[in-house]
Amino acid sequence: MTIRELIPWKRTPLYLAPQAGVSESPFRRLCRAFGADVVVSEFVSAEGICQGNERTLEYLRFDEAERPIGVQIFGADPQRMAEAAAFVHETFGPDFIDINFGCPVKKVVKRNGGSGCLRDLELVARIIRAVAAATPIPTTVKVRSGFDQATRDPVRIGLVCEEAGAEAICLHPRTRTDMYSGQARWEEIAALKQAVSIPVIGNGDIRSGEDALRMRTETGCDGIMIARGSHGDPWIFREARAALDGQPLPTEPDVEERFEVCLDHARKTIAFERDSRRAVLEFRKHLGWYTKGLPSGRDLRQELFEVTSIEEMQERLAGYLDRYRAGELRGMESGSEHRAAAAVRM
Ligand SMILES: Cc1cc2nc3c(=O)[nH]c(=O)nc-3n(C[C@H](O)[C@H](O)[C@H](O)COP(=O)(O)O)c2cc1C
Repeated sequence: MTIRELIPWKRTPLYLAPQAGVSESPFRRLCRAFGADVVVSEFVSAEGICQGNERTLEYLRFDEAERPIGVQIFGADPQRMAEAAAFVHETFGPDFIDINFGCPVKKVVKRNGGSGCLRDLELVARIIRAVAAATPIPTTVKVRSGFDQATRDPVRIGLVCEEAGAEAICLHPRTRTDMYSGQARWEEIAALKQAVSIPVIGNGDIRSGEDALRMRTETGCDGIMIARGSHGDPWIFREARAALDGQPLPTEPDVEERFEVCLDHARKTIAFERDSRRAVLEFRKHLGWYTKGLPSGRDLRQELFEVTSIEEMQERLAGYLDRYRAGELRGMESGSEHRAAAAVRM
């Protein structure tokens, strides 16, 4: 099946972005339920896959409910990337393979992986060709606009990827040197869309449904990918869908719904991970995000960061809800622009 057949491009599909330590199977399922049309695994090392590293292979597990799902791999050796893609396809059966050419992390870039590849577009082409030839499923790519300002040329990068056999391209229009600073240059997504004929997925700085609609209007992109905007806020997909479809925007979740979804997410995470204590510890970042902006949120987080089981988590959240309903909690966290704050104000 080609990527054009696999993904509902007509509706401007919403992608949950690949995110190390965040876009794991439980969160991917949650976001699918809230309206994400496509999900992508966090980036997985081709070397780790080829070596059969146990922890690496854990990242590849997914649930049928997540489809269509892409598994994202990274590495700088075309042959190893091809071997890894073939193994992932045969063993786990995702719908497509996505290649990471965007990761800015030093450890990865040093070995020419992720955005490191963008310094050598011939290498980018060889990796794509090797991966595309290794499996019958589509190969897609996720890129930044360049390695640094001097090599910034998203259109050229896109043309190279398309020519080498990428069936879709996602652009996060910042360079590796930019990391996350400044604003994503959406005009580069528009330029890429004009230049290539494969679907273009726009990414960068989507924080609301309105942003999603604006990105589509300003760039003409075929799909929209959301990363940080989904943290503690899987509802963003519901809102983005409504905005794209010209429907009234759904109301923000209230504190009760927020906690219900948070607990559902935590339960799914614990069920998915083999070590439940570790699962709870790793869930702390999500607890931080789900409670951001709430009245006395800092105190609540302090309580939540001490929990080691789902029962304790449940107790602390229930205790907070009692105090909240009794009107004992006042004032939003200062400086918070998180959407939870708006929900509580209503
Ligand atoms: C915690 C975190 C982990 C990420 N991990 C990955 C990854 O594994 N692969 C990847 O291609 N991008 C990764 N990214 C980048 C995002 O997919 C996305 O391109 C970037 O955050 C910009 O989108 P946003 O403005 O919606 O956050 C990560 C981003 C964050 C915040």
